[in-house]
Amino acid sequence: MQSSLVSVAKALRQARHVFVLTGAGISAESGVPTFRDAQTGLWAKYDPLQLATPGAFERDPSLVWKWYSWRRELVSAIDPNPAHYALANLVECVPELTLVTQNVDGLHQRAGSPAVSEFHGNLFTNICWRDGSTQVLAANDIEIPPICPDCGSMLRPGVVWFGEAIKSDVLDNSFNRAAACDVFISIGTSSLVHPASALFEAAIGNDATIIEVNPEITPMSKAADFVLRGKAGTILPELLDLLAVED
Ligand code: APR
Repeated sequence: MQSSLVSVAKALRQARHVFVLTGAGISAESGVPTFRDAQTGLWAKYDPLQLATPGAFERDPSLVWKWYSWRRELVSAIDPNPAHYALANLVECVPELTLVTQNVDGLHQRAGSPAVSEFHGNLFTNICWRDGSTQVLAANDIEIPPICPDCGSMLRPGVVWFGEAIKSDVLDNSFNRAAACDVFISIGTSSLVHPASALFEAAIGNDATIIEVNPEITPMSKAADFVLRGKAGTILPELLDLLAVED
């Protein structure tokens, strides 16, 4: 592991443009349950993969809204972890950094990352169910789900649900930037959910060095030049420490 860490630090020192893709694993150490973890408490009997769909919202908007309210409260009560802070500091160490996250929890921003592209939206935003416009909740709205102040339709969380398309500007920009990077780092993602799982292929097309940080094997592992097996909250701070040491 140490020799891979040293090699990765070397690749980062030589990089011009580093592309980082993060997934639920980077927030796991903060206490955000992944969709694929067993859920606890009140929501244990529901399958999150069944709740995070337009069909579920159509069938039972109140249930889906309450589940997201619970997730908002959970995320509001926890903090970014050392992996989020290490990535926020990485900006200072490389000429250009693109950070794309599949997470909707806003923890990268809270850790201080200046520019974060949120591939799957943000838990704390609301959009109109009818036209997708971003809306601010009226302070006195007690409906569940709340009502769009513009058109009276329902509001829904501003996240991308299973079966929905990624916003085209976010999608195009992410793929263009991945295709232009020379180091690609995948952190804490199972690389199972398309199209984020295809971003590393765009980087391979540019002969980028591919790095994975994950305690488990993923479908991306065999394409990686360096695999750092372990927790992001341990590995990334170690990597940043190594980067700070001159060659
Ligand atoms: N450090 C690094 N990786 C970790 C850690 C950790 N401490 N803990 C778990 N992991 C890894 C797991 O091994 C797994 O590969 O994080 C990954 C989490 O996988 P998923 O739960 O599938 O998360 P993600 O890849 O982000 O899922 C993509 O699917 O859950 C939906 O829309 C949601 O954006 C999400 C998308």
